[in-house]
Order: sequence, then C-alpha cells, then structure tokens
Amino acid sequence: MSMATTSPHTALFQNRTNPFTLSSFKPTSIKCATQLHTQAPPLTHSQDRVFNFAAGPATLPENVLLRAQSELYNWRGSGMSVMEMSHRGKEFLSIIQKAESDLRALLQIPPEYSVLFLQGGATSQFAAVPLNLCSSPDSAVDYVVTGSWSDKAAKEAQKYSKPTVIWSGKSEKYTKIPSFHDLEQNENSGYLHICANETIHGVEYKDYPVPKSGVLVADMSSNFCSKPVDVSRFGVIYAGAQKNVGPSGVTIVIIRKDLIGNAQGFTPVMFDYKIHDENNSLYNTPPCYGIYMCGLVFEDLLEQGGLGEVERKNQKKAEILYSAIDGSKGFYKCPVEKSVRSLMNVPFTLEKSELEGEFIKEAAKEKMVQLKGHRSVGGMRASIYNAMPLAGVEKLVAFMKDFQARHA
Ligand SMILES: Cc1ncc(COP(=O)(O)O)c(C=O)c1O
Repeated sequence: MSMATTSPHTALFQNRTNPFTLSSFKPTSIKCATQLHTQAPPLTHSQDRVFNFAAGPATLPENVLLRAQSELYNWRGSGMSVMEMSHRGKEFLSIIQKAESDLRALLQIPPEYSVLFLQGGATSQFAAVPLNLCSSPDSAVDYVVTGSWSDKAAKEAQKYSKPTVIWSGKSEKYTKIPSFHDLEQNENSGYLHICANETIHGVEYKDYPVPKSGVLVADMSSNFCSKPVDVSRFGVIYAGAQKNVGPSGVTIVIIRKDLIGNAQGFTPVMFDYKIHDENNSLYNTPPCYGIYMCGLVFEDLLEQGGLGEVERKNQKKAEILYSAIDGSKGFYKCPVEKSVRSLMNVPFTLEKSELEGEFIKEAAKEKMVQLKGHRSVGGMRASIYNAMPLAGVEKLVAFMKDFQARHA
C-alpha cells in the first residue's frame, strides 16, 4: 500500500505550510501505529541524503536509520518507542544485553573485561581514567601526545594525577607517531595513555606500545570498531559513540576487571567505574535510545561479516582517497607521515589555499558536506567512518580530480 496522500505522516506534513509556524499546523490524529510502521514505505532513501564527511556526530548506516525509523513508534510490538521504555523493564534489558553481547562478539572481548555504557562523552573519560586508576592526585602516569585529543586528555589528568607527557608531536604539527623504542616510560607510572586515532590531525596508531606498568589506556573514539583490536593488550579502551557506532550521548568503556574498584575517595559517583559495573550500566537512567542505536549498528557490523571485513572496506576507501591526494602532483597535500595515516579522518590542504573555500562550497552543491577541516588546523578533512559508503569516497575523488582540472 502506498502512503501517498492518505498516510497520517503525509497529512501531517501537508497541513504545515511552514514547519516553523505553529499557528499553521493543524494536528491530525494518528489512529493505528502498527499499520504505520509495518506498511509505510521508508520516508527517506539514498537519493535524499548527502554524503556526510563530518568528524562526529557522523554519518550512520542507512539501513540502521531506516530500521530505527520503522521501529520508532512501536518497538517490536511493545506498544511504545525505545525512548519511552523503563530502563529496568524487560524490553530495554534485552536491548542493552544484546548490544553488549554483539559488541563482545565484534571485538572478541575476553570475559575478564567489563563493558560499560556511560554518558558524558569521551571528554568525561579524560577525568574518569585518572580518578579510577590512580590512588591519589600524586600518582605518576604517562601520556603520549599525538594530537589535540591526547593533549586535552593529558591536561585534564593534571587535576587528578601527575601526568608526564613522555612524547609530544606538537613541534611537528602532530603528523607523527613516535617509535615505541624512543618512549621513555616512567618506572612508577600507573598507566600509559594514548589516543589511538587523532580525529583532528588524522594520525592513527597501526600497532600499540607495551606499557611498563602493564596498563595501556586508549581513547579509541574515532576508530572504535573500524578494525579488529586485540583487547587483551589494553587495560582500558574508551570511546564516544558518535563517530562509528551510534549517536552522541553514549560513551563506551571496556575495562579489565582487576582495574575496577580503586577510585580515589572524592570520585563523583557518576565517574566511578565500580558503581556502573556493579549495576550493569543501569545505576541511573542510561542514554537508552543511543544504546539501542549502537545495538543496531553492532548488529549491522556483524551482518557485514565482522570487523575484519569492515577493516577491508575501510582500507579500500582510504587507499583511493590518499592515492588521489598523493597523485595530484602537489595540488592536494596530506601532511601526515604515510605510515600512520588514519583510515578514518583524512586531512588535506590545497596548494592554492585561497581555493579551499570554493572547494568546500562546490562540494556541498554536489551533496558532499562537512569537508571543512577543524578550525584549529584549517584546510579540509574527509571523515570516512565505517558508514561512509565506497560510493561517497569515489564521488569525492572524482570531484577532486575535476576541481583540479579546472583550477590547476
Ligand atoms: C579522539 C577523540 N577523543 C575525545 C573526543 C571528545 O569526545 P566527546 O565530545 O564525546 O566528549 C573526541 C571528539 O571528537 C575525539 O575525536
């Protein structure tokens, strides 16, 4: 059945002459929820959508969005949306448990690790990590600073610990990852902190250093679930969801269980891993809808064949984009050292920097948006997370070649 002019959705929109003028809005009663969600064709399809190269919140898989849309009004016959459910009811418990078990399957998380679904963004983890892993604000910890995010993490850690920046790429404009042999880790350091992928600078670890302390902590916000990771090499992995696995509002922490339970006395309850672990991430009201969305993304990643397959696709996308940049005879440039270029965030500049505004404007006209580089570095940045289809990168590369031909 087509919903053409008869569906409640269409009627709602037809009655709005201007969506921002409430006085012109005549409410129409919606009688049958089940009919709406089982029979209505999708309200969006790929032709309606742009290729969104934003660094986060970022593009989500189209099939996940459509599934969420179909389940929005009445989740699987429960008679309500996920947003309206009690977080302690059996429906939501099934959602959060499945999300966790699918994430465990994807990353092959060993049983001696807990998975926590928290709030506060990865930024809250900049504080939570030293609060939970250090016995006092005088405890020594090591930080490797490869970009803006690890820099912020190290600065926040100063409030709750004594961090040493044992390596910084600042003088080389954050284009490198150090050789692990050059890292002079402190003997008494409680952990070694890294940012696995610097979202702004496009620098990504391809392997991980071995921490002297035995505890490696990684901010994986922008390459989480983009490739297989040996979780057993880490004490803590944390990530904001809004790049690869869901909407903003969910922060995922994967932590070795023996590291839980030693938070400093003044740690706020919401930052204490023990509280969240003991309560299966349900100590207080969690970001229910965001967790549900993450669950749909995890299912989708498993259906694609798991993270090995996802990595293969990500490598292909990155390869064609970096080749276009490197093959442009200097028209486009990526400043990052080749061996550590990110598969997720590709920063590049134009030799003729005065054309950058035009590049971004023309790309947007072609439905390729959010290509402006971060305000702190300028230039362009294409974020090509899991959900960016190969077709999006191919379209960008074709546009880049055409732009070059017209402006070289
Ligand atoms: C690598 C990295 N760490 C931390 C953050 C901060 O995350 P949030 O905004 O979720 O606090 C970001 C945000 O973009 C990020 O890319």
